Amino acid sequence: MGCRGMAIAGIDQDTISKIIRDNLTPSSEITTPERLFGRERALKDVTRALNSNGRSVFIHGDRGVGKSSVALTAATLITDSSMTPIRVMCGKEDTFAKVIRSIGNACLTVAQRIESPAKAFQVGLSILGSGGSFNPGERSRVEIPLPDSLNDALDIIRFALEKRQGQFVVVIDEMERIASEGEREKFAEFIKNIPALEPRVKFIFCGIAATLTELVGEHPSAGRILEPVKLERLRHNELWQIIEVVAKNLNIEIESEALIQISRISDGFPTYVHLIGDSMFWSVFDDSEIVSAVKVRHFREGITGALQRSDATLRAQYEKATMKTKNTQDYEEALWALADTSSDWRQLTEIYDSSYKKIMLQRSGRTMLAKETLNTRFHSLRKDGHGRVVVNKGAGWFAFRENIIRGYVRLKAQEQGIQLGRDNAMRNV
Ligand SMILES: Nc1ncnc2c1ncn2[C@@H]1O[C@H](COP(=O)(O)OP(=O)(O)OP(=O)(O)O)[C@@H](O)[C@H]1O
Ligand SMILES: [Mg+2]
Repeated sequence: MGCRGMAIAGIDQDTISKIIRDNLTPSSEITTPERLFGRERALKDVTRALNSNGRSVFIHGDRGVGKSSVALTAATLITDSSMTPIRVMCGKEDTFAKVIRSIGNACLTVAQRIESPAKAFQVGLSILGSGGSFNPGERSRVEIPLPDSLNDALDIIRFALEKRQGQFVVVIDEMERIASEGEREKFAEFIKNIPALEPRVKFIFCGIAATLTELVGEHPSAGRILEPVKLERLRHNELWQIIEVVAKNLNIEIESEALIQISRISDGFPTYVHLIGDSMFWSVFDDSEIVSAVKVRHFREGITGALQRSDATLRAQYEKATMKTKNTQDYEEALWALADTSSDWRQLTEIYDSSYKKIMLQRSGRTMLAKETLNTRFHSLRKDGHGRVVVNKGAGWFAFRENIIRGYVRLKAQEQGIQLGRDNAMRNV
């Protein structure tokens, strides 16, 4: 019947390409509310906080949970419709001054930043802040100087205000990457002074909880200005919507069992759902017969594809943790056991009794380790040589250093036919 690559009635290559591209974005953030599932509350919290003059927001949560997506969607909603929000990323080597300068740069056109004449016209900070007098021609290169005081930094924001009309949002993303305490201190000082700026500029900061504590810890007044918004992992039914939208657009059925398996593996981290969905729907399209529903074989290809295409850093972490001269399988099975439930912290005896044994019974030709040996394996997984994928506290309590890896571990286990997280698959529905 159908030839390869046309297995969905009425859907051609271009149509499916567009549907997948528009809805499955494993490596880019979401900027519109229609695509942002399960974050209605967070969006409301962010936009309401920013509605009050002088208030800023700090969005925090696990790596990969969806912080940038919430920040950019809220920022897009609030920013005057003719403009896009300003977004600056923090890097390991970045300083407060560089980040603030990037905000100024974001208000220049590319031509103004890189065009000749060779000698750049450095804008004096006093000019930046005072308004009016500075108006570089389209063809002259402009360099925003690095601010070396708080006042200079505020002047750069005033420059941005002058360049932009209406209300706009500045997203300062990945603040946890700024390693230096001194630099974070400067951010805290800056935050305290945000209320002195014209209220039509709003700030959203993103980072992890520890960064927030550090920012406001020593600065009670920064705490009053900065509203924390914590993002939890997405629930099963929220993750399903990512897949359901695509299935609906392609006019194919997907069984709830497949949806459950996908959300179970993803463990609240949307990136895995996007990855599995992407490969799974292509596999449906490539089927040798006309199909009207997603079948197990497509789901399997979704898993393989997701493993091949997932974030290289996760893959590297898993390999570093497990690929050793000996005991590789022990390490894998230990990680699988730890990943079997979604609890952040798990006690050795509980991991052993309710997860490890169950997994080992499904492994042919493998011998079960004694509990003490499993304990030793977990302690090894904490070490540098294993990429410190696991952390521990007190007597026998273990957790993944970053929750996002649990999804990758579940994908690996699934590929070997081991289903993890089954007991509480319907948690949070
Ligand atoms: N609410 C959501 N619904 C559907 N997909 C989402 C949602 N939030 C995020 N995603 C998707 O999940 C992935 C991760 O999102 P995002 O980059 O916003 O997370 P993050 O917390 O900023 O990650 P990181 O810590 O790596 O910066 C992206 O592929 C994005 O498209
Ligand atoms: Mg991000």
